[in-house]
Amino acid sequence: MEEPPSDAARHPDRVRWNARYGTGFTASFAPHPLAVAALALDLPPGPVADLASGPSGSALLAAAQGRAVTAVDVSDVALGLLGQEARRRGLDHLITLVPADLRAWRPVPGRYALMLGTGFWDPAVFAVAVPGLAPRGVLGWEAFTTAARQARPALPAAWCLRPGEPATLLPAGMTVISQEDRPDGQRGTRRGLLARRDRPGPA
Ligand SMILES: C[S@@+](CC[C@H](N)C(=O)[O-])C[C@H]1O[C@@H](n2cnc3c(N)ncnc32)[C@H](O)[C@@H]1O
Repeated sequence: MEEPPSDAARHPDRVRWNARYGTGFTASFAPHPLAVAALALDLPPGPVADLASGPSGSALLAAAQGRAVTAVDVSDVALGLLGQEARRRGLDHLITLVPADLRAWRPVPGRYALMLGTGFWDPAVFAVAVPGLAPRGVLGWEAFTTAARQARPALPAAWCLRPGEPATLLPAGMTVISQEDRPDGQRGTRRGLLARRDRPGPA
């Protein structure tokens, strides 16, 4: 794994999530259902990006299918857990761990067959991620909706999807495959989007 820049150690998101993933945390390494659905689609060749990956079972599933995966997360502790499990499964040569704040990370344009963002919402990050998709590449994104704030008023509105989002924020050249809400018990409602980048038209 790349080392996070030393001045980034005090990044508030890193401090908070490193504490969450620290002593006492057990990773399930279960792939996210949206990732399972996306990886079952007809994807173009190319790598997968898992944004805000955590210790991601989705990244492990994509690698087990032979895909190169870039896992980006602000928490180097989460990425350490993912790297350890990837080594145990003999998949570490396929997974690149990138400890970075997604608000500063930029994908190589047109590179990824699949980009995942589950359990994380920032419309600016969403906007920057989409151009990273290869033609026919698939975007899988899931986050809580503003309805979740009824159950958890402390959840900041900025972390929640507003009505119609994220599909309404897609740029031209993207086609929605599905956008569905699913209840998550006491935690509120999550909304998952699958969308595909169109093939480029004739010049
Ligand atoms: C709720 S977890 C979701 C993890 C995983 N994607 C999943 O679906 O289970 C949110 C993740 O976002 C990461 N995160 C929070 N703020 C971030 C930021 N600014 N840049 C990159 N990752 C961030 C956390 O470290 C954490 O792993």
